[in-house]
Amino acid sequence: MGGPLTSRDGQVRLRPVKVAEDVATAVAWYRDPVVLWGSEGSTEPFTPERVARMYEVLAARGEVYIVEVQGPDGFIAVGDAALSSVGVPIVIGEASWRGRGIGRQVLALLIARAQALGLPELVAHQIYADNRASLRLYEGAGFRVVSGGEEGGRPFFRLRLPLEGPESADAGSAPALL
Ligand SMILES: CC(C)(COP(=O)(O)OP(=O)(O)OC[C@H]1O[C@@H](n2cnc3c(N)ncnc32)[C@H](O)[C@@H]1OP(=O)(O)O)[C@@H](O)C(=O)NCCC(=O)NCCS
Repeated sequence: MGGPLTSRDGQVRLRPVKVAEDVATAVAWYRDPVVLWGSEGSTEPFTPERVARMYEVLAARGEVYIVEVQGPDGFIAVGDAALSSVGVPIVIGEASWRGRGIGRQVLALLIARAQALGLPELVAHQIYADNRASLRLYEGAGFRVVSGGEEGGRPFFRLRLPLEGPESADAGSAPALL
């Protein structure tokens, strides 16, 4: 796991998650029906333990970040994102920060990180067909639908982005993406 990833303009930062400290903030995001329905396909609120377990599962398969944006008094946490073998999930948990281009910047940072690590591709395994913001986000970054499926009668797509190889030589070793 490397350090924080920061957008060129310095307004958006992906900071490696600190599970024990970040769960208290993140649990509010996973009580929002929009987040739960968009990312989990259910509206059952998460407990703090479930949020911690989710971060630990993702961290075991890649890298997990807290999405931060520059506020008047420094960075504030607004969501989370991961670069993992089980997908490239992004959640802007604070509703007031959705639809303002943060997700697009987060995905660009994750793609650059994956390229720097020399990963051959990124796959978004389960994007619900009715999640227009999510589909636009991934397709806008160049991901293309490669297959589809259905969960509980709700269609989803699997999208893939082939990558070009390392952009920088100082990326360090690749994370354990299983
Ligand atoms: C999906 C999500 C990550 C997108 O991040 P965001 O910061 O809100 O999105 P952005 O402002 O960067 O916009 C990305 C694209 O989606 C479009 N978009 C944003 N909100 C939208 C909405 N409510 N309906 C339709 N399109 C929308 C934007 O216009 C943009 O497309 P464009 O570049 O073609 O104009 C965020 O809205 C979110 O966390 N939603 C709830 C949880 C979720 O569904 N996560 C995804 C699970 S994989």
